[in-house]
Amino acid sequence: MNQSQQKTILLGITGGIAAYKICDLARQLVRAGHKVKVVMTAAATQFVGPATFRALTNNPVATELFDDPAAPINHINLAEEADLMLIAPATANVIAKLTHGRADDLLTTTALAFQGRLLIAPAMNTQMYLDPATQANLKTLEQRGVTLIGPATGQLACGDSGPGRMVEADELFDKVAECVHSSTLLAGKKVLISAGPTREYLDPVRYLSNRSSGKMGLALAREALRAGAGVQLVLGPVTEPVPVDPHLTRRDVVSAEDMHACMTEAAPKADLIICTAAVSDYRPSEYSSSKIKKPVQPQAQSGFVAPVTLIAPIVSLTENPDILAGLGQMKVEGKLRSDAVIVGFAAETDNMEASAAEKLERKGADFLVANDVSATDIGFESEQNAVTIFGKTAVGVDVLRRLEKSSKTLIARQILETVYPRG
Ligand code: C5P
Repeated sequence: MNQSQQKTILLGITGGIAAYKICDLARQLVRAGHKVKVVMTAAATQFVGPATFRALTNNPVATELFDDPAAPINHINLAEEADLMLIAPATANVIAKLTHGRADDLLTTTALAFQGRLLIAPAMNTQMYLDPATQANLKTLEQRGVTLIGPATGQLACGDSGPGRMVEADELFDKVAECVHSSTLLAGKKVLISAGPTREYLDPVRYLSNRSSGKMGLALAREALRAGAGVQLVLGPVTEPVPVDPHLTRRDVVSAEDMHACMTEAAPKADLIICTAAVSDYRPSEYSSSKIKKPVQPQAQSGFVAPVTLIAPIVSLTENPDILAGLGQMKVEGKLRSDAVIVGFAAETDNMEASAAEKLERKGADFLVANDVSATDIGFESEQNAVTIFGKTAVGVDVLRRLEKSSKTLIARQILETVYPRG
């Protein structure tokens, strides 16, 4: 295993009989060259002692929020250090707490602080698992980007038979290995992303813009960083928090012309270019350096107001450069890396599929990610999205994947895995 594949895996163990299976998992992960840290709930220690995991992982095992005087904010250290967190077995109780963001012990506090890929392996009695509350909680977690592993169906410790068994250690190991692998998907690659809206000023205080929040582009930037890429983010004016990371370079821009200049300059070095920005198609033809004043109404004379028709100013517009189409053209002209991959986005309100396919061809993109912005619960300003990915196939431009409604984090991860398949 090379160094970039060696990860710090944080195992969160909660109080279920299946906790014993984690001994084997911890051993396998250590053997595979990973650094393994273990956090246990108080209930988990009733099933397997921390000393067992200490011996298997060669690391201290944390059980209490304040049990290490040398590390009074251990939950933050653990969360920051880990590349991946797996909670297994995950009881109905811990699943409910994760869903609601409760942080009342070391494990849940660490999970809440952890910003990387979170996997959970539910383990509980069949009725508890099938209860609508648990089902709704699991669905919510999945939509936020949490990966669920299992449960399996079979004989349970309580004597019942049905879904609720935690999957075996081998399956957990394979899943962790797969995630670690995908987190090296873009190792050493340069990813250029445009995000957010642009603003086209008429005067110092007024501008044309749109409702783009930049969330989709920022989710892609975060996921690309997690997959090992160096990311250059060209960002229009947004209020969303932007990741601070040594592998991220951020360029703030305002207008489409600024964004165009930055993207064109950075593109030749990029392996993957993703244009999520909602670029304004037009800008005012003229810019007034002082605030444009409203025409003054003629003074009323002796109580009599003369009927006047005020002529509203007309703003004439000039077309902005199409950044994506320009990058597509640069690729044709051999000005980008020959294997550079270009991904465009298309926000459509109707006739989504036909427009997206046409746009991919016209702009020279390799992939086009289309979303329906007429739906109010996804897309613009929302935490969630649902997209269709178009690409070139042997029979022309076609749908490659339809990603159903889920968090922008999960959508971003799936987009990267589609446009940059490993191997
Ligand atoms: O034509 P439309 O605006 O729907 O195309 C959307 C795609 O084109 C997005 O990827 C967007 O970032 C890009 N685009 C661009 N420059 C423009 C307009 C759109 O790069 N002026």
